[in-house]
Amino acid sequence: MPAPRVGGLIPVDPLREESKTRRTVVCAGVSSHCAFKASGARGRSRTSRRCLKLVVLASSRAPANFPAWSRMTETRRVLVTGGAGFVGATLVRRLVDSGHAVRVLDNFTTGDATHLQGVDAELVEGDIRDARTMDEALGGIESVVHLAAAGSVVMSVADPAANFNVNVFGTFQVLDAARRAGVERTVLASTGGALIGDAVPPVNELSLPKPISPYGASKLAGEGYAHAFAKAYDLRTIALRFANAYGPWSERKRGAVTTFFRAINSGEPIVIFGDGRASRDYTHVDDICHALELALSSEVPGGTVLHIASGVETTVNELAALCCRAAGVADHPIEYRPKRVGEVERNFASYDLAKQVLGYEPSISREVGMCRTWQWFEESVFADS
Ligand SMILES: NC(=O)c1ccc[n+]([C@@H]2O[C@H](COP(=O)([O-])OP(=O)(O)OC[C@H]3O[C@@H](n4cnc5c(N)ncnc54)[C@H](O)[C@@H]3O)[C@@H](O)[C@H]2O)c1
Repeated sequence: MPAPRVGGLIPVDPLREESKTRRTVVCAGVSSHCAFKASGARGRSRTSRRCLKLVVLASSRAPANFPAWSRMTETRRVLVTGGAGFVGATLVRRLVDSGHAVRVLDNFTTGDATHLQGVDAELVEGDIRDARTMDEALGGIESVVHLAAAGSVVMSVADPAANFNVNVFGTFQVLDAARRAGVERTVLASTGGALIGDAVPPVNELSLPKPISPYGASKLAGEGYAHAFAKAYDLRTIALRFANAYGPWSERKRGAVTTFFRAINSGEPIVIFGDGRASRDYTHVDDICHALELALSSEVPGGTVLHIASGVETTVNELAALCCRAAGVADHPIEYRPKRVGEVERNFASYDLAKQVLGYEPSISREVGMCRTWQWFEESVFADS
């Protein structure tokens, strides 16, 4: 019996899906274009997501699986790995809005297909660690933004092998596939704080990396391969070391801003690990994504590494106050707990080199950014709960 349509999309028959030895999954609308057009509000469960997939057979690198591709020849074709995650949700929208044809490859471990609801991009379910998936995903692609990662410091300490597998082996697979495909530009998401480790801020590209968590080490390894591939194979790589990003679509993150906003919304105390004097550089996701766009079109030599930051140091105590102010609450209770392993003490970065070579400059202040983010949480997350 043919499967019923759900919200204009063709649901997957799980039995049929499991019977495929190799598959690429595309979220397809009823039109020939593979825009993700799921209806229904914020269903975030795995079950509901499974109902929004169309299984198509894997093919060669020719983009035959992607019917709309042929009419996108005038635009730049970009693959965004991990594009259904927090940063990806903003980046994919911006790239589509500026005329790029975007394909997203994501395995939905921390990302969510609903993040790209209504966005005119292709969404392919697959894992960056699989070479054949990568080869297929790169069919017809000119540039890659590699965001897919296991991004939690805490989880990397708990399970370093899992972190290594996604971040080191996975990044290697992305670079190796980009090399095979002859991709023009490969932009990698790296990290500032976790990679440098405990150093006196502001850190910059000359600071000696000394990661203190497996996550930081994995990002340093990715940068190493990106540099090696630039030198050995002429692959035009650029690694951007993001500061702590915040902004819309971060509801699944476990970072401080999301956790503090959730605590405020539920009336629970804000929990701070340590004495609250640890610091970070909080950069709005729009600024991060602007830097990624600049990197995609830049002529900088392969292997370049740049810090993308706000240049402003914010302690955890200050961040809690900023979150409270954005939410319009005064004197929200704060609970202090012991510091966690793997977390650096102080961090903020200089973006001078990125300004010089990319023309990058942050444009969103902490106050404005936090207010916008709280507003997004209120409208898009808390309104449903
Ligand atoms: N958010 C930050 O503050 C921050 C700071 C520094 C660096 N970064 C880096 O930026 C990138 C994006 O971060 P984010 O906050 O959007 O993270 P995120 O967890 O929201 O997004 C990562 C995405 O990658 C996908 N993914 C994970 N493993 C995969 C795999 N094996 N194959 C395919 N897809 C996979 C996830 O499902 C998710 O959609 C990451 O590389 C992260 O390390 C983020």
